[in-house]
Amino acid sequence: GTPAVKAAAMVTLEVDGFEVTVPTGTSVMRAAAEAGISVPKLCATDMLDAFGSCRLCLVEIEGRAGTPASCTTPVAPGMKVRTQTAKLKQLRRGVMELYISDHPLDCLTCAANGDCELQDMAGAVGLRDVRYHSVENHFEPRRTGGDLNPQWMPKDETNPYFTYDPAKCIVCSRCVRACEEVQGTFALTIEGRGFDSRVSAGMASDTFLSSDCVSCGACVQACPTGTLQEKSVIEIGTPDRSIITTCAYCGVGCSFKAE
Ligand code: FES
Repeated sequence: GTPAVKAAAMVTLEVDGFEVTVPTGTSVMRAAAEAGISVPKLCATDMLDAFGSCRLCLVEIEGRAGTPASCTTPVAPGMKVRTQTAKLKQLRRGVMELYISDHPLDCLTCAANGDCELQDMAGAVGLRDVRYHSVENHFEPRRTGGDLNPQWMPKDETNPYFTYDPAKCIVCSRCVRACEEVQGTFALTIEGRGFDSRVSAGMASDTFLSSDCVSCGACVQACPTGTLQEKSVIEIGTPDRSIITTCAYCGVGCSFKAE
């Protein structure tokens, strides 16, 4: 009889000289990973649909103009991809330099220190200097237009389990997508443009606590920086009871116990 699931058609391509065969529809980034090559990235994760916003995963493809994002570009038969040319390295350093120029430089006292993908990527692309310092670097808030400039906004500490610090947000949208794709809640959105863009839990005056957020923690797990941080035991106190749940992300605590 006919198999219930048809085998996916396979595509063979070359990444940095290595031949790799992957199912049709696979992204160039994933194909590179199959060949053991990791392309720098910030907005892509294994958990979420590709979004293509951070522009760090740019690659060169023989016969194609420009430098497409590898996370959103599907493979094609016979494609020849380069992930590590001098031009790409320079572009990636430039992208990282812009991110860091609009980010607080308080890594040593940041709770995410050592567990921050922004920090990791700055190292991975070899960023040493940032030429665009100083727009008073966030210790002196600056105004670039609207009152919604993230640097003017205080931390949102209203949620009992986590905090949100807009100054550290790189607007990769991973939290927004996790809220939708992992949890199926649409509590978060991105507001504003350019320096004013930020993640928002609803209307401008809303807090996480007053939003549709169900405290599942998917956004905190998805955040690549110190923007969304779990509160520590010191901040929330020790629990007065514990709940065993098999649901990896759910914070609701339905008391479902695995046998
Ligand atoms: Fe591809 Fe961000 S990882 S654009």
